[in-house]
Formats: sequence, C-alpha cells, structure tokens
Amino acid sequence: MLCHPAAIRAALATLATLTLGGAAACDKKPEVGAKVGDKPGDKPAASAGDKAGDEAKSSTTIKIGLIAAFSGRFADIGKQIQYGVKAYLKEHGDTVAGKKIEILVRDTTGPVPEIAKRLAQELVVRDKVDFLAGFGLTPEALAVAPVATEAKTPMIIMNAATSIITTKSPYIVRFSMTLPQVASPMGDWATKNGIHKVSTLVADYGPGIDAEAAFKKTFTAGGGEIVESIRVPLKNPEFSSFIQRIKDAKPDAVFVFVPAGEQCISFMKSFHERGLADAGIKIIATGDLTDDHVLPTIGDPALGIVTTFHYSIAHDSPENKAFLKAYADANGPEAGQANFMSVAAYDGMAAIFEVERQLNGTMDADKALAILKGFSITSPRGPIKVDPETRDLIQTVYVRRVDKVNGELRNVELSQFADVKDPGK
Ligand code: PHB
Repeated sequence: MLCHPAAIRAALATLATLTLGGAAACDKKPEVGAKVGDKPGDKPAASAGDKAGDEAKSSTTIKIGLIAAFSGRFADIGKQIQYGVKAYLKEHGDTVAGKKIEILVRDTTGPVPEIAKRLAQELVVRDKVDFLAGFGLTPEALAVAPVATEAKTPMIIMNAATSIITTKSPYIVRFSMTLPQVASPMGDWATKNGIHKVSTLVADYGPGIDAEAAFKKTFTAGGGEIVESIRVPLKNPEFSSFIQRIKDAKPDAVFVFVPAGEQCISFMKSFHERGLADAGIKIIATGDLTDDHVLPTIGDPALGIVTTFHYSIAHDSPENKAFLKAYADANGPEAGQANFMSVAAYDGMAAIFEVERQLNGTMDADKALAILKGFSITSPRGPIKVDPETRDLIQTVYVRRVDKVNGELRNVELSQFADVKDPGK
C-alpha cells in the first residue's frame, strides 16, 4: 500500500518515465512491452513495492499480466499459453464475480531475465494487475519472483518447470509440472524395459539439469548405467556433434530434455541424419520432445518414442474433449494442436476464476494464496491438486508412446503413475 508521501512521489516520478502504450487486450497482437530502441534494463525500474493499494485498482475489471516469449525462437511457448487462456475464456466467458477479465500481454522475446523483470514491474506499478501469469521459460519466472513478493501479487506459472521456482516467492503457484516430476518415472520405466546403458542429453539450464539429475537417480537406483551426460546450450544448440558423440558411445538409449518447440525438431533431424536410429539407439524423453504441437512437424521419425509426461491431447476424458473443443473454437485452425502449455494456462485460468469467485472480485494476495493452496480439479490432463506445501501440482504422470491414431501421430498413454509430487523438493 502506498501511504508514505515520499513513496508516492517516487512512484509518480517512476510512472512519469514509463513510455509504453496502452494495455493489449487478449485478442490483440502481443506488444513487446518496450519502445523500439530500449535496451533491457536501461531505464529506471519501477519498484514493485510502489504498487498502489487495492483502492487504486480497477473496480470493474480483473487484470492479468501475461508475461512470456511471443517473438523470437521461443515464440511458440507464449502463443500456446495465450491459446490456453483464450480457450478458457471462450468456454467460461470473460466475466467473473461481475468483473471483466482483462489480459495484458507482454513479450519477453525469450529467456531474458532483465526484460521479464521490467515488464512485471511495469505491470504491477503502472497497470496495477491483480495477477502476474504466463512464464514459459525458467529465467523469466526466476527474474519475476522477487517482484511478486515485493508487490504481493499472486504469480501463476503456466509452464516454467525448474523445481526450485516455487521456493523463490510465497506468491507463486505453478499449474504446469516440474522436470523431476516427469523425468523420475522415466528412470524407473527404462530399467524395467530392457534399457541398461543410457547417454543423457539436456539443455544446459535449470529444467535440463533437473531432468538429468532426476532421471539419473531412479535409473541408477534400478541398476542402469549412465555412460555420459551431455549438456547443450539453451540458445542456438548445434546438435550434430553431440549426437555423433552419442553414436560413438553406443548406449541402448539416449534420454533427452530440450525445451518443447523448435529444438525438438532439430534434435530429431540430427538424430536421424547421423544414423542413430539405424544403429539401434532408442530415444527416451520427457514429453517435451514429442510435444503434441510439434509432433506433426517431426513426423514419422517420432514413431515409437516413449516419453513420460502429464498431458497428451490423446487423453480420453470428457474434460479433455471440452478443452480441445474450446481450444479449436477460440483459436481456429491456424493455432495447430494444443499442448501441455495451453492446458497449464487453461487450468491456471480456472484457478484465477475460483479465487475471484471466492474473493467476490477483490484481490488480497494472502487470501488468494490460501484459496490456491487448496485448489483441486479434474483437468484435461486428469486430476490435479495444488500441494499446499510446495505450491506445485500433485498429478498423474503417464508413460506414452508415439503411435498413429486414425492416421495422425499421437502420444498414446500406456500406463500411469498416480499422484506424483515434485520429487525435486
Ligand atoms: C522452462 O524453461 O522451464 C521450460 C521450457 C520449455 C519446456 C519445459 C520447461 O518444454
């Protein structure tokens, strides 16, 4: 709350320096959130603690600042998140507790912490958002966590999946997954399915390192051997030389985590060009690799890949059917297939609606967190429950295999591990 005159003056001075245009509505083209020529961090940052109190918030709208990458190499992540948000609003309407939901879309352009932080500061200080949401990439989420704490604003994570993220602010609740949650079951599965020697290849940042450690733990506990652990740069990985190393090491399989999207396509391309499939080396992975959205682009080389994950568009349930219909109705055919990110966004919106129903359209961050900590629904992915201790989801992790269903590639669920908590914390 802004009470101290000096704090008010400082906040007003900061606001005067802000140069952005108006808030983007959900269905407008996302704006980058910075003037052309702005370099990350080159203007005085608004302090999140300067956020005006509830009385200064809009009395007619609930504002959600949606921060993610909408341009650059990770643009698909932001788009999938936004498609999930739109699907929820299409199905449930854009009003809750008599207030209209307003989505303010802000583009980080990629894993750039300075931009993510500045956008969050602007959203809480200038736009007075009720929720910060989105966060496709771990560096974005980590950069914004202190802003959520200082501004006392609930922060709804719709993808970023490094385990440690929720420990960085008491106002964070995550509606996606953690890499340890989905990678640990794969270690278990592999040792029971004839895989003894594995090379690991992961993106060299939080979620990759988490995936590598979690897989290694369960795989070696079951008697498996890791022959080598390769980490590839997050930005511009050049897979072919790493893949040649794997071929030379002759493992039974390679365990892979790369962020869903473009990198899955280039990994798969190099894997096949270098003849690893022909050499009999299998791929096992978290479901990021065979993400439903990119699967049609990867094509038949994906057939047979076994992954562990929390969501597949092939999941057979009424909730998933309703989600897929809302996704298609809201976003049209050009959006392509839904994926785990759009489901996390859809579920995150369900949680925001529940908070606002219970708070009758007001915002009190501590009360919101108390509601979120008890939140559970049947999601399109299956049952989910916020673990009140970690503010991560307890959910089902499925073992799936890429197969053709009516001529289309699908991650078909084979078996499941129920009620999996994040083992990373
Ligand atoms: C992350 O940066 O946390 C991240 C990005 C893409 C994924 C999973 C995790 O597929």
